[in-house]
Amino acid sequence: MIIKTATFVKSSGKWQDCPEAIIPEYAFIGRSNVGKSSLINAMMNHKDLAKTSQTPGKTQLINHFLVNEQWYLTDLPGYGYAKVSKSIRKDFEKLITNYILNRRNLVNLFVLVDSRHKPQTIDMEFIQWCGESGVPFSIVFTKADKLKPNAAIKNVEDYKTELHKTWEDLPEIYVTSAEKKEGCEEILHFIEKTNDFLVQNNINFDE
Ligand code: GTP
Ligand code: MG
Repeated sequence: MIIKTATFVKSSGKWQDCPEAIIPEYAFIGRSNVGKSSLINAMMNHKDLAKTSQTPGKTQLINHFLVNEQWYLTDLPGYGYAKVSKSIRKDFEKLITNYILNRRNLVNLFVLVDSRHKPQTIDMEFIQWCGESGVPFSIVFTKADKLKPNAAIKNVEDYKTELHKTWEDLPEIYVTSAEKKEGCEEILHFIEKTNDFLVQNNINFDE
């Protein structure tokens, strides 16, 4: 997909405040600091469309970006940020789950996991919740440049093994690096194909 335009639309503190749900939407979620905002910038070929930071907890609101005047790309706050109080963490979780369960134009959720780590409980629990809640999602491994290729492949395989304990069919899996712009084309291709499918099947959200 060629990115002709990518513009920031708004930040929302609750799902009811998000832009009108009338075009297809794709959202990025994952642990705080996993690289959601960086990958959005890499995909959009833009240095700082989404704000990034070395300190976890940078994205605290739901951020909507309009791409090619056709679809939304959404940057969500990270889950599992340890350095805030339990009650604030609960508020974040509520914001995220309410958004996911109520956003009727959400076509696919990209769940980002750090390719350097073995399957983490918090990520597995979130993925489990997505499956049980019937949320369409894909898994995106981030920061692949920080690992030797074989180590990244091994960690992806470990994830698959873990997921197969519960699920027969696995979601689409992407291995990415925002630093090296790896895997961005593949994700954009998936979004393009999905948008085409929606058009061909007359699935729209504007009523
Ligand atoms: P929150 O908004 O706090 O939830 O974080 P986030 O998931 O949006 O992460 P963000 O994109 O802000 O990146 C966190 C840190 O990881 C930053 O210092 C980035 O530069 C770094 N980072 C992100 N993606 C990559 C990558 O592909 N490779 C490398 N080497 N570093 C990355
Ligand atoms: Mg962020």
